[in-house]
Amino acid sequence: MGIYPIVLSQNRFTHQDNLTYPFEERGLQFGDGIYEVIRIYDGQFYLFTEHVDRLFRSAEAIKLQLPFSKEELKDLLQDLLSQNNMEKDGIVYLQATRGSAPRDHVFPGGVIANAYAYVKDLPRNLANLENGVSAIIKDDIRWKKCYIKSLNLLPNVLAKQEAKENGCYEAILHEEGIVTECSSSNVYLIKNGHIYTHPATKRILHGCVRMAVERFAAELQVPFEEEAFKLTDILDADEIFLSSSTSEILPVVTVDGSPIADGKPGEFTRKLQEAYREDANISERQLTI
Ligand SMILES: Cc1ncc(COP(=O)(O)O)c(C=O)c1O
Repeated sequence: MGIYPIVLSQNRFTHQDNLTYPFEERGLQFGDGIYEVIRIYDGQFYLFTEHVDRLFRSAEAIKLQLPFSKEELKDLLQDLLSQNNMEKDGIVYLQATRGSAPRDHVFPGGVIANAYAYVKDLPRNLANLENGVSAIIKDDIRWKKCYIKSLNLLPNVLAKQEAKENGCYEAILHEEGIVTECSSSNVYLIKNGHIYTHPATKRILHGCVRMAVERFAAELQVPFEEEAFKLTDILDADEIFLSSSTSEILPVVTVDGSPIADGKPGEFTRKLQEAYREDANISERQLTI
């Protein structure tokens, strides 16, 4: 199944066919909104609190009043899964915008935010997890507040499309040679048993899986250095990997056509993938890598 029939609209449930918006909607016209993608395994949310907390941080950063409290939203999202009898692997996509109002850059007065959420199947990509993926390098042309999970994804979309056109899975972004993150994931370099990644500043999205990677690294006693690495470090790396809610922890085996080390997923990345599977309670039937 693709998208499940029952969707959340504000704080009510309705059939997806009933969900319509006027053209003068601030998400549609200005990208004036925020979103979250939350992973589900066997019908259970993974890193649930982390995602809900980040949504509220993003809302505060753009001065958006959400139409529910954190606790209300958590209950609503759990109900969304049960109303759809969702018991598989998937995601919830949730979006909140500054509402429907005549087009004007200034915030509309007295308008309630538009929020909706839907559930979708998303099987784990076992081939990618097993074999790793390829990436290209692109200039990071985004705005200066990438920690906000904003709907304005045009630079990310263009970078990802170029990756695809080059037969790659991701685009690694850099600012003047300093690697920030990828178009839709965080990126890490491993050298001499240390993990390096860009610090959680305004220049990157503070990934929920990134937080989990930091925790796994501590458990595995692998130093986690929040220290940005350079483009010139990539080809000397022992391992490169990326992380996101949809991709999990994914080895990157070639960058711009050149292999990383022997061009195969490395041992530390494998350990982190294993830690992820345990943490997310991924069931036996999926232990195929
Ligand atoms: C730009 C960007 N960085 C990082 C991530 C990873 O975030 P998370 O681990 O919370 O899924 C995403 C996820 O979509 C993203 O779009």
